[in-house]
Amino acid sequence: MSKIRLGVNIDHVATVRNARGENYPSPLRAALFAQKSGADSVTIHLREDRRHINDTDLKEIKSKLKIPFNLEIAATNEMLKIALKRRPPFICIVPEKRQEITTEGGLNLNFKKNFLKKIINKLKKNKSRISLFVEPNLNDIKESKNLNADCIEIHTGKFCNLVNKNKNYNNELKRIKTAVTLANKLGLEVHAGHGLTYKSAKILAKISGIKEFNIGHFLIGESIFVGLNKTIKNFRKIVK
Ligand code: PXP
Repeated sequence: MSKIRLGVNIDHVATVRNARGENYPSPLRAALFAQKSGADSVTIHLREDRRHINDTDLKEIKSKLKIPFNLEIAATNEMLKIALKRRPPFICIVPEKRQEITTEGGLNLNFKKNFLKKIINKLKKNKSRISLFVEPNLNDIKESKNLNADCIEIHTGKFCNLVNKNKNYNNELKRIKTAVTLANKLGLEVHAGHGLTYKSAKILAKISGIKEFNIGHFLIGESIFVGLNKTIKNFRKIVK
């Protein structure tokens, strides 16, 4: 396994399937393909509205995939129950609003703090490794430690937007670096994700202290043109 793990998010394979209500393209097939192509883990987000993967996808991926899978869930009783039953090796707790197009920002750790603490402890006791999806700000990193998380995943959306629009991203990059340093100091494993492309991943992969990248939308889009295997291999060369 490489020093930095590459997690492949296959939600958008399910989006394409769901657009026509068919049973193809198969998220399970994509997960197995990602495994064969060199991914270290597969990420899936079970949303409340099931707009990407559904409960059957989760069950199939859990039973057939050999590499670890990372289940993204909102902090709700329904998701807690499912995660306790399916026991994914990795769980990332994310904010979720029904109307949003995608996960637009990091968690608000001051909202439902006691509930968050309770579910983190329950899921950890159930042998899942828990990550919190947060903005790169120092209070959230400290709070993640207080909440007893194992890892944080830094929301890289703002940074990636600046890179995509050819705007100055230096301040945002600095903010991410400072957050990574503090998290490492506190003993939190650091992951990063959201909006990553070849260009933005290349810049962030140079920061030491990030252990895992989770990449979905761009990767699945790019694979339309060059194939999933080639796209994962291209990211593999960046994330190593
Ligand atoms: N990490 C987390 C926690 C996410 O919620 C998402 C988006 O679902 C990603 C990574 C992947 O983002 P993208 O699809 O933009 O690459």
